[in-house]
Amino acid sequence: MARILFVGLLFLVVLVGLGVGYFFFRFPDVGPAPAIRVEATPERLTRGAYLANHVTLCTDCHAHRDWDQFAGPIVPGTEGAGGERFDEAMGFPGDIHAPNITPAALGGWTDGEIIRAITSGVSRDGTALFPVMPYPSYRLMTEEDVYSVTAYLRTLPSVEHAVPERKLHFPVNLLVRTMPAEWTPSAPISPNDRLAYGRYLATIAECAFCHTPMEGGRRVEGMDLAGGFEFQMPSGLVRSPNLTPDVETGIGSWTEEAFIARFKIYDGPDGQRITAEEAGFNTPMPWIQYAGMTEEDLGAIFTYLRSVKPIRNRVITVE
Ligand code: HEC
Ligand code: HEC
Repeated sequence: MARILFVGLLFLVVLVGLGVGYFFFRFPDVGPAPAIRVEATPERLTRGAYLANHVTLCTDCHAHRDWDQFAGPIVPGTEGAGGERFDEAMGFPGDIHAPNITPAALGGWTDGEIIRAITSGVSRDGTALFPVMPYPSYRLMTEEDVYSVTAYLRTLPSVEHAVPERKLHFPVNLLVRTMPAEWTPSAPISPNDRLAYGRYLATIAECAFCHTPMEGGRRVEGMDLAGGFEFQMPSGLVRSPNLTPDVETGIGSWTEEAFIARFKIYDGPDGQRITAEEAGFNTPMPWIQYAGMTEEDLGAIFTYLRSVKPIRNRVITVE
């Protein structure tokens, strides 16, 4: 009897071992970094700088931000050097730091390794990245845009700066391995197709990430862009507003000019020198970075937002 039990137990241990081994072998389910060498043409460097600083906000998350100021402007000289922290106090399952992505840190990476990290969520050493790094959205970036950002990263001033190691709680430390996936680039989209181009920009700028309510770490279904995501800022609670075209509770009564002007307040030094105290509250909305988007691009985003399903959801952003 004992012998049968022992054999049974052994069998079970081997099975679990195989299962765990398979899990670690199988995930992250992403192939080796692509063998791509990106040529740094002037067009790509211009486009990459525009996207990284004003749309996809790579240099903003991967920086130190001054939260004593309204909308947390980047501390000059830390662009791309890493530092922003996502921890339990903010509702994250652990302690995650945006690492250094200046040449001081990525100098030894191949272009393919950088591209795989951006689009698939796998670091150079095979570690699955936690999706606060928005690779699930960047996965849809066009080839040319990813090449442009990659070429631009190589031109950032090198800053020596290391961030603490990531800590993730069980079971997220295992589940994170299942999140990376292969890059499925969008076909090139003409800026003249304002609706499609606006949808593309809103996707890679992650508007829906912050403007969709979350419950238990998940987006509430059917509430895309309806606002209500809660952010615990040092200055107090702030909620994202409803960006759907509902007339009473969303932006249904806004004109395109008013929408663009709302961002452009923060373009230029005056709009960037407001302390959180003067403003009376602080916000994670990256106003200052987005303010550098062109009026055409902000207009395209507006065109897209006006096309989504109106959802009635009254949100009080600051109480
Ligand atoms: C919302 C914040 C945020 C934005 C925006 C963001 N990142 Fe990240 N990124 C992170 C965090 C946090 C990590 C680390 C995740 C982890 O350790 O699991 C990361 C990881 C990375 C890594 C892997 C670095 C390493 O050492 O493993 C690269 C490369 C990277 N990001 C590049 C970019 C680029 C390029 C963009 C813009 C296209 C970008 N990131 C936008 C937060 C962000
Ligand atoms: C990191 C989270 C975050 C991201 C990303 C984000 N927002 Fe916001 N947004 C907020 C919060 C919170 C507020 C409310 C506080 C404020 O006004 O700053 C806000 C406010 C706004 C407002 C003001 C609405 C009003 O009634 O005055 C507009 C418009 C807006 N966001 C549009 C966008 C668009 C478009 C994008 C994508 C390009 C975007 N947001 C991305 C968090 C975010």
